Amino acid sequence: MSVSPSPSPAVSSSGSAHGSSDGSSSASSAASAPTQADLFDFVRRTAADTELIASLPLDPEGRTWVRLEGPGGSEAWLIGWPPGTGTGWHDHADSVGAFLTASGELKENSLAARLPTDGWKTLELTDGVDRERRLPSGQGRAFGRHHVHEVLNESPDRHAISVHAYYPPLPQIRRYSRSGSILRLEQVERPEDWQ
Ligand SMILES: [Fe+2]
Repeated sequence: MSVSPSPSPAVSSSGSAHGSSDGSSSASSAASAPTQADLFDFVRRTAADTELIASLPLDPEGRTWVRLEGPGGSEAWLIGWPPGTGTGWHDHADSVGAFLTASGELKENSLAARLPTDGWKTLELTDGVDRERRLPSGQGRAFGRHHVHEVLNESPDRHAISVHAYYPPLPQIRRYSRSGSILRLEQVERPEDWQ
């Protein structure tokens, strides 16, 4: 684990003042909602904050997390992944997001398909929709609305740590089970379930 001191950027650098924005007229749309690129920039800079990353408590028995202040009112998390842990398949409803590995390596399995948003319980996936990517330290991705994925630490012996950001703050997460090409909606979690 790297402990090299560095003049790292602040954890939260919400560029625009956030809150009730009456009065002053913003000439452009610069103060609007953070984009995928903004979130990715945030997770990249945050993951470079070695002091913050090293401050996350790690537990060999399960994932650990600390909530961060994301840019522009976004929801952000620092997450520790013991070897062999993963999220299971889920989506982030209408939120866009980004995440990046700060330490160790994560794997993302995702679907290159837009699922119907509601009104189904099981779905048969067509061939060729599966994507997988390895995300070693310093690598990450942004994603759009309704992105369906699972994230895993497949290392047999090494923790992984990652930074995540979502906007709007997650109103819900839909959890799925998967058997071959069959995806089944199992559960809908709301913020009170994970805070
Ligand atoms: Fe996710």
